[in-house]
Amino acid sequence: MNDSEPPVGQPDLPASIQRLVLTGFMGSGKTTIGRLLGTRLGWRFVDLDEEIERQVGRTIAEIFAQSGEPAFRHLETEALRSSLRDSRVVIALGGGAVETQANLDLLAKSDGTLAILLTAAFDTLYERCLRQTLNPKSAVRPLLGDPISAAERLARRNALYQSVAGLIVNTSGQTPRETTETILQSLKTPLPPKLSS
Ligand code: S3P
Repeated sequence: MNDSEPPVGQPDLPASIQRLVLTGFMGSGKTTIGRLLGTRLGWRFVDLDEEIERQVGRTIAEIFAQSGEPAFRHLETEALRSSLRDSRVVIALGGGAVETQANLDLLAKSDGTLAILLTAAFDTLYERCLRQTLNPKSAVRPLLGDPISAAERLARRNALYQSVAGLIVNTSGQTPRETTETILQSLKTPLPPKLSS
C-alpha cells in the first residue's frame, strides 16, 4: 500500500463498538495508529497523555519530576474515566495505564469498549522510542530507562496487556496505515470475544 494515500470510504464497525482503546508498551504506535483509526472512522481521537498535559498545563516529564509517578497515575485514571464517557472515540492509553487496577476495572466495566493491544518485538519497540527522542517535539518518556530495565518492565506488563485486550495486533513490518487497515478488517466480523457489552 502507498503510505501517503489514505484509503477511501469510511469503514463500518458493528454498532456495539462505541470506543476503541489502544494499549501496548511505549513505542507500540498507540498514538499514531489511534489518530489514523480516528480519521478513518470519523471518530474523535484522545491521546490520554496529551489530555493530561492539556488539563494540568504541564508535560508528562514535568509531572513525573515535580509530583511523582503516583500523582501522574491518579491523573491518568481520571482522564481515562472521563474519556470512557464519550462514544465514537478512539483512546490511546499510556503504556503504563494497565498497571493501575482502577484502570483495568474501568475498562472491564465499560460497555461497548474494545481494547486493542499493539505488539512488536522488544528491540523494535525500544528502537522506535530511541528514534522518537531525536525529534525535539516528541514527548519525553521518564520511565523508558535503559534497555535492560525497559525489557523487564515490558515482561512485567505483558500479562496485564493481554488481560485487557479483545484484539491483539502485531505491528512488526507494517506501516501505521497498514496496521490501521488490519485492525479495521479484523473488526468487521465476527464480534471480538472480549468486547464488553
Ligand atoms: C508510560 C508511558 C508513556 C506515558 C508515561 C508513562 C509508561 O506513554 O504515559 O511516560 O509507564 O509506560 P506512551 O506509552 O505513549 O509512551
